[in-house]
Amino acid sequence: MQPLSTRRTFCRNGLLATAALLAPIGRLARAASPRSLHIRTDADIGLIRPELHGHFAEHLGSCIYGGLWVGPDSPIPNIRGHRKEAVEYLKALGIPVLRWPGGCFADDYHWRDGIGPRDKRPRRVNIHWGNYTEDNSFGTHEFIDLCRLIGAEPYLAGNVGSGTPQELRDWVEYCNYPAGSTLSDERAANGSPEPFRVRYWGIGNENWGCGGQMTPEEYAGHYRRFAVYVRQFGDVRPFLIACGPNRNDTAWTQRFLSAVYTGRRFVRMDGYAMHYYSNGRLPATKFTADALREQMATFADLERAIVQQRAILDGYDPERRVGLMVDEWGVWDRMVPEEEKTYGRLWQQNTIRCAVAAALGLNVFHRQADKLVMCNLAQTVNVLHALLLTHGEKCVRTPSYYAFELAKPHRGQTAVRVDNPDPDPNGLSVSASRKDDSFALTCVNPRHDETFEVSATLSRGRLEGASARILHHPDMNAHNSFDNPNAVTPRDHAVQVTAAGLRLTLPPLSVVTVTGRLRGV
Ligand code: AHR
Repeated sequence: MQPLSTRRTFCRNGLLATAALLAPIGRLARAASPRSLHIRTDADIGLIRPELHGHFAEHLGSCIYGGLWVGPDSPIPNIRGHRKEAVEYLKALGIPVLRWPGGCFADDYHWRDGIGPRDKRPRRVNIHWGNYTEDNSFGTHEFIDLCRLIGAEPYLAGNVGSGTPQELRDWVEYCNYPAGSTLSDERAANGSPEPFRVRYWGIGNENWGCGGQMTPEEYAGHYRRFAVYVRQFGDVRPFLIACGPNRNDTAWTQRFLSAVYTGRRFVRMDGYAMHYYSNGRLPATKFTADALREQMATFADLERAIVQQRAILDGYDPERRVGLMVDEWGVWDRMVPEEEKTYGRLWQQNTIRCAVAAALGLNVFHRQADKLVMCNLAQTVNVLHALLLTHGEKCVRTPSYYAFELAKPHRGQTAVRVDNPDPDPNGLSVSASRKDDSFALTCVNPRHDETFEVSATLSRGRLEGASARILHHPDMNAHNSFDNPNAVTPRDHAVQVTAAGLRLTLPPLSVVTVTGRLRGV
């Protein structure tokens, strides 16, 4: 960490100096503009549950097959079939929760296809993602093994669209019953005498669409029926997750909640999962200023959607027993057919813009930490907003991987309020948190043509031993390719601790996290 020399950085000469430093950033960069923040270190929002930094992996394209799973006989270095480099990167990031097997795939997945000797498992057609066949060599045991290798809590999405309550009930028993039933003994015979102790169970996925094209009322009926049979087998009480809306579809939520609760004394529901994708109208590496602005502005909509969806839930569940989740989120750009042919369906390159988008999303979740229990980025490897991209034996960490790394200090801390007078959805984005004396602040500049000079005051306490890390690239289409895997990586950044708070510079398209000790709060 280099200390900023003096307050002069913010006077005219300083601005000129900053502009000179930024010269290589390009002709587009304008003079730095000031941004003031007031961090209310004594105004708690809520716990930033580690699960707000969760992830999702579906049988889609090369997310599982060829991505996470290469098989034990592969020449690609692997641990019991799991790509070794991917395991190491994901373990280092510390993924708190991993959702599987879909997505749309979940409502066409029959878990018995994926257990027992691998060479005896049936080959099935993946109807949602290109009608290719897969050999089911990656099933429940392999998924649990992966979760244990990377330290993630497993989250299984059940089949409601084409499955039965019995099938889902049996999956829970197979995973969680300790021993002595036919299903638990089968699990033991298949190599896992210890129960899997899976806590998170999705009751379907997007049942308004690929999960059965149901009306909210139809889904409410199915939900109630399935929920009766997904029981506690063993010592883990299952956390039941209902399918929520696409984006901020308030009608789905109103109608589903009204139908599911009306006339019922008790309905078991622990989570309510909305999906929110931030669409991009261009291919990932061909973004323009307009497309960038449009996509970044969706994060203000995401925040509004969380607030409004929670408010509707509150009407039925004022004690907030049901936790709101953003079960799938991330950027969904225009696919390039040639790339999909080479790397699989929904493969998209991941640029600094995607990392900035990831950081905007994480800031939203931190600011709304009192309303959320889990958020899962879609998807972990080779699909949509990926953390890792693979090609043959190569595996690169995307800029978005590093955005999650920069957000890590917030996990398990309490989010605190920040007065940020910037009303622009493309303006400065901020989240702050603390626990005991440890403090974290993440600032994001989603603009490609403006530097922000941030000056923050603290309502209480003072910062000591502050340091900062930055992820930044002046070219919105910059990415980590298989030939140049370290084009966009984080580095140390200057932060100046002042009597009132702190100051730092945010170049265009940057994410900065400051950490330090908070004294005297
Ligand atoms: O993540 C890709 C797809 O997006 C998922 O399968 C589905 O749930 C959503 O529509």
